[in-house]
Amino acid sequence: MLTHVDHIGIAVTSLEEALAFYRDSLGLAVHEIEEVPDQKVRVAMLPLGQTHIELLEPTSPASPIAKFMEKKAPGIHHIAVAVADIEAVLANLKARGVRLINEEPLTGAGGKRIAFVHPAATGGILLELCQSA
Ligand code: CO
Repeated sequence: MLTHVDHIGIAVTSLEEALAFYRDSLGLAVHEIEEVPDQKVRVAMLPLGQTHIELLEPTSPASPIAKFMEKKAPGIHHIAVAVADIEAVLANLKARGVRLINEEPLTGAGGKRIAFVHPAATGGILLELCQSA
């Protein structure tokens, strides 16, 4: 039911600074820059083969990304795996008693349907399940 790593989410303080490295120094293309008001972030998606680097810049101190950086530091925030049927995956995890952050899918960047699994269940990684629109 899981097909590949869809993206790696990286929390950054400044998208422009991060793009100076990922776009200008590494030469990755920027697929799109999008504001996701629900999550209070600006998101840059940089394709890398079948996966993407997702740069996440908070647009408000109340953003989950701002809170993450307060507690920890800029860096890897989550890993996202592509799923064909997010409802089926969530139902299976629920049935197994796995701790979820979202029991129902939300709408993420690019109109994808997403849900997060709690790091307590995954060995410490915030895991995003992600189904293409
Ligand atoms: Co993500």
